[in-house]
Amino acid sequence: MTFLETIAKFDRVVRLLSFYFSPRLAIELYSRGRREFVHALSEEQLSTPRYINSGNKVTIWGVEFGNRLMNAAGMFKNGVGYDVSYMQGAGAFLAGTTTATPRAGNSKNGILHPFMPYPRSEAALNWMGLPNDSHETVAERLSRINKKDGCPIGVSLSESPGVDFDIAMAGVVNGFMLYEKAGVTFAELNESCPNTGEHHDSTNLLDNTLISRLEYIRDKYIKHSGKSIPIVVKFSTDTDLAQVPSLVNLLIDMGFGGVNFGNTSVNYMDKLIQIDHKEEDNFRYFMTHFGGGISGKPLRADSLNLASEAVKIRNSRELHKEFIVIRTGGIETIEDYNASVDAGIDLMQWFTGYFELFSKHGHDLYKHLFTQK
Ligand SMILES: Cc1cc2nc3c(=O)[nH]c(=O)nc-3n(C[C@H](O)[C@H](O)[C@H](O)COP(=O)(O)O)c2cc1C
Repeated sequence: MTFLETIAKFDRVVRLLSFYFSPRLAIELYSRGRREFVHALSEEQLSTPRYINSGNKVTIWGVEFGNRLMNAAGMFKNGVGYDVSYMQGAGAFLAGTTTATPRAGNSKNGILHPFMPYPRSEAALNWMGLPNDSHETVAERLSRINKKDGCPIGVSLSESPGVDFDIAMAGVVNGFMLYEKAGVTFAELNESCPNTGEHHDSTNLLDNTLISRLEYIRDKYIKHSGKSIPIVVKFSTDTDLAQVPSLVNLLIDMGFGGVNFGNTSVNYMDKLIQIDHKEEDNFRYFMTHFGGGISGKPLRADSLNLASEAVKIRNSRELHKEFIVIRTGGIETIEDYNASVDAGIDLMQWFTGYFELFSKHGHDLYKHLFTQK
């Protein structure tokens, strides 16, 4: 057992008791602890693979994925962590979200990158604000990775918040070009970060601003570059189900490579009923002091419904180009994985469930997921 696996096992006990701490103290501890843990995880050197993918392989965009599950955006923001992900048995590796210029992320009341896990509810809240080293630095880092068969690389990018339209969109397109040169297989456009003050209203996504952003990318990148990488657009799991047909049709018509449902939720009151009563005080403290996005089990049904609907729309169309549906939100068990496959969902990403399983099975988490009876 590595030192990190031991820490995670120990923390599993502590975090279940974290409701005894004052909310502020617990959030301070876990915000710092998460940063340090992910840093150590991304640098972890494993001498032998913990799981070798065999029966779950899938070919998408002409590239082999070891299985349909990879880390979600935000886990390895700066593109460090490929080797450990491959050794664990991940189906792919996702870097980012990155922006055109480096960002320090959110800090409030002396807490940097506020984050809090709610293990009794299998959920978490975060208000990170997209800290990252920038497209350029991360693209350079990804270009130096010794890429292994069966573990392709994707990257999540977003426009820089608070910047004029043309500058912001030029930054995004430049990001696509840098990552294309770095040899990534696909990019994911993060249209749904609730933590930067630029959150798009998920009840009315099809406004002119979304369409203008997508048109810009179509005209300046997808049509422009002969060998452009596929671009998947990631929306919130709060997206209204009734908007999925229009969104998917729009993305297909514009030549995008797929859709991802999705990002964290800001429907605090709806999700509050799924929070264990012991964790409710801390949850309320976090949402009133920071806001942020809810992740984990409370998103499980929404992500499945939205992604399944996207599959139905995609399958009803005659496609001239591959269009992939990704499900993210609340994935933690083989039942979640199988339910996605049964619904025709192509790929999955996990974040909160990943750490839940890591605390139980350490680096054997993919092995546990795929070999349990
Ligand atoms: C600490 C943290 C940071 C995140 N950062 C990002 C990010 O940079 N970009 C993004 O698209 N999503 C980000 N997310 C959202 C996740 O990618 C994912 O969509 C969400 O957590 C739902 O998946 P889960 O239920 O498996 O956690 C972040 C989530 C967490 C918990």
